[in-house]
Amino acid sequence: MKFHLNDTMNANNIINDVLGKIKPVPAEQQRMQEVADRIISLVDIAAAGTGLTDVSGMLVGSAARGTWISGEHDLDIFISFPEDTPVQDLKTVGLNIARQVAADADNSEERYAEHPYIHAIFSDFKVDLVPCFRVASAARIKSAVDRTPFHNLFILDRIEGLEDEVLLLKQFMKGAGVYGSDLRTGGFSGYLAELLVVHYGSFMEVLQAANSWKPGITIDIIEHRNRQHNDPLVVVDPTDPVRNVAAALTLDRFAGFIDRARQYLDLPAMELFFPGKRVMLSDTEFYNITTSRGTDLLAVVFNKPDVVDDLLYPQLFMLHNSITDLLSRHKFSVLNGDVWAGDGDAAVVLEMEVSCLPPVKKHAGPPVWEGAHAGNFKQKYLQNKGLSRVYIENGRYVVDVPRLYTDPVELIKNELLNCRLGKHVGACIRTGFEVRKDEGLQEIDCAEFRFFLKEFFKL
Ligand code: UTP
Ligand code: MN
Ligand code: MN
Repeated sequence: MKFHLNDTMNANNIINDVLGKIKPVPAEQQRMQEVADRIISLVDIAAAGTGLTDVSGMLVGSAARGTWISGEHDLDIFISFPEDTPVQDLKTVGLNIARQVAADADNSEERYAEHPYIHAIFSDFKVDLVPCFRVASAARIKSAVDRTPFHNLFILDRIEGLEDEVLLLKQFMKGAGVYGSDLRTGGFSGYLAELLVVHYGSFMEVLQAANSWKPGITIDIIEHRNRQHNDPLVVVDPTDPVRNVAAALTLDRFAGFIDRARQYLDLPAMELFFPGKRVMLSDTEFYNITTSRGTDLLAVVFNKPDVVDDLLYPQLFMLHNSITDLLSRHKFSVLNGDVWAGDGDAAVVLEMEVSCLPPVKKHAGPPVWEGAHAGNFKQKYLQNKGLSRVYIENGRYVVDVPRLYTDPVELIKNELLNCRLGKHVGACIRTGFEVRKDEGLQEIDCAEFRFFLKEFFKL
């Protein structure tokens, strides 16, 4: 790759322009700090009221590390209990403290990870109030969140002077649609972005490294790995030798990042840092695209269960797999598929490569030389006649018989309830679902669905 002085200047300009948009100015930083301090003192006051000593609030996550992006006011505030606190006390007392703090919030709701916690809105700040154990080392964690304070220490020790590099990397990952370790995105977490910067040294060095990443690449910053992982990217948690920080990263998000990194190395551009504007698929486009592709579209639509995305999406992915398997067992083949969730509805959408089969299929029996087996097969189809006589193909008896399902819609309607379904999605499907076909998809009356379709056809 040739790199001219002009290119370097251009790349530096881009990076400065991006930082200008995403780096919080001192006033915003100060406000963040004030809000954090205020909420932490609310935690401490509530904790003192319980009569317990040694329970205190602490700020963790990107707000504690100066690695948060301007405008994103996410405060991760942990309520830290001594290690020997009984789990049940941590749950009840922790939640009580969180509730008292949230009494001052504009809005709040209880959420569930391994333990319940509270998500509260204080004006334009989103605040997670998470009870955790103050364990002696990350090797002794009692729940996944107990690692977080150790992450905080590790990053704080090494991030000074590299904060801008983290901001650039996070924003670049957002632009590529690969930021977020939630189960819907399956991308890079903030902590993972920080570790990559610590390891490689800068934003540009992470991109250069990614250019030669292959699945299975392992980064072990303090060389203490003691477990084998079978993930596309393995970044051993410096605070816990058994854990892969990139465990949630899917192969396609991993590949998506490599692809974008290469694009940027070839030709740096500001646009690569920001997700493109989403557009809707119009009726005309819908008509044109389905006509030119000549495929059939199917959508299995049902009421969306009222659960958090981290429960919903894995179940939608499972439903997608179940339907695709069902179709392929019956010889219908799927060209493309994806899942969608709107406000009230959810759907699995499929573009069929084969969506119509003849009323006949081959039914293969045993090899002719397999004694009784072969005899039974031949006998059976002499009595209840198939659509052909029993004939021999590749040494086996074969008979042509009527096909049970010639239409995938009928197949799904009749057999979906026999498939493997997740708990909440399964419950909703059992109360009813519909299978829409072709123009029937256009009638799904929701702008979000039109955005989804534009993406679905990769337009
Ligand atoms: P956050 O999801 O809020 O991430 O989790 P973050 O690092 O603060 O980044 P942004 O800027 O908000 O996007 C808070 C902390 O919880 C732990 C990390 O220590 C993280 O810093 N965590 C969270 C993980 O270890 N893994 C995860 O997948 C999510
Ligand atoms: Mn955060
Ligand atoms: Mn958070």
